[in-house]
Amino acid sequence: MNINDAIKGRRSVRGFLSDPVSKEIIEKIIEDSSWAPSGSNIQPWKVYAVSGLYRDRLCDEVTSGLEKNPNDETPQYQYYPVKWREPYLTRRRETGWGLYSTLGISKGERDKAFKQQLKNYDLFGAPVGLFFTMDNDLELGSWLDCGMFIQNIMISSRGFGLETCPQAAWVYHHELVRKVLPIPESEILICGLAIGYEDKNEVANTFRPGRQKVNEFTRFLGF
Ligand SMILES: Cc1cc2nc3c(=O)[nH]c(=O)nc-3n(C[C@H](O)[C@H](O)[C@H](O)COP(=O)(O)O)c2cc1C
Repeated sequence: MNINDAIKGRRSVRGFLSDPVSKEIIEKIIEDSSWAPSGSNIQPWKVYAVSGLYRDRLCDEVTSGLEKNPNDETPQYQYYPVKWREPYLTRRRETGWGLYSTLGISKGERDKAFKQQLKNYDLFGAPVGLFFTMDNDLELGSWLDCGMFIQNIMISSRGFGLETCPQAAWVYHHELVRKVLPIPESEILICGLAIGYEDKNEVANTFRPGRQKVNEFTRFLGF
């Protein structure tokens, strides 16, 4: 696959086939991705890769925990602004409502929206989940490094015909995640990532949010 197509064709897939993905493929994707740059080459990323019964146990633990206490959120870090403002509020709403209207979920249909939200904790049906952490005493720069590594994972996966969905959703329930994954307290959960073969019949996968035009966020100087 041409690199430009690999980047531009990546999208967040929210419906996967249950077809398994071998450990060899996942290991190769992780190895290739570890060639991401990092300041002073400190390589701050850590990965917990789950499949099979381990994956099922994790999904069951978090889903059942959430069904019991849907509002019990304990985010380990603030992914989003605490106070939303424009233009981010509008972009966020457009994306959220864009996905829900693709799925036929109207405003106020909270049960349906909650059910869709819960699919996060089944990895949208994907057979493999990757959970990224780093030591919690590292600084902001390491978050940047981890982001580059995680983007590599998403692009590299496409070379194997696989698609992904990065998931901050797990961060809000890291205590439930820690009941199954052996993540020490000294590590912070950055995000999860579903990885597998796309279910081309899944309606959610027809949703493709747009982007700002280049000249709206770039100033070309001296060209
Ligand atoms: C770090 C990160 C966390 C995300 N968390 C979630 C998530 O928990 N659930 C979800 O459905 N999508 C999640 N997304 C996907 C975004 O909604 C998606 O990237 C955005 O709408 C742009 O769409 P695209 O990835 O299809 O281009 C996340 C994306 C990123 C980068």
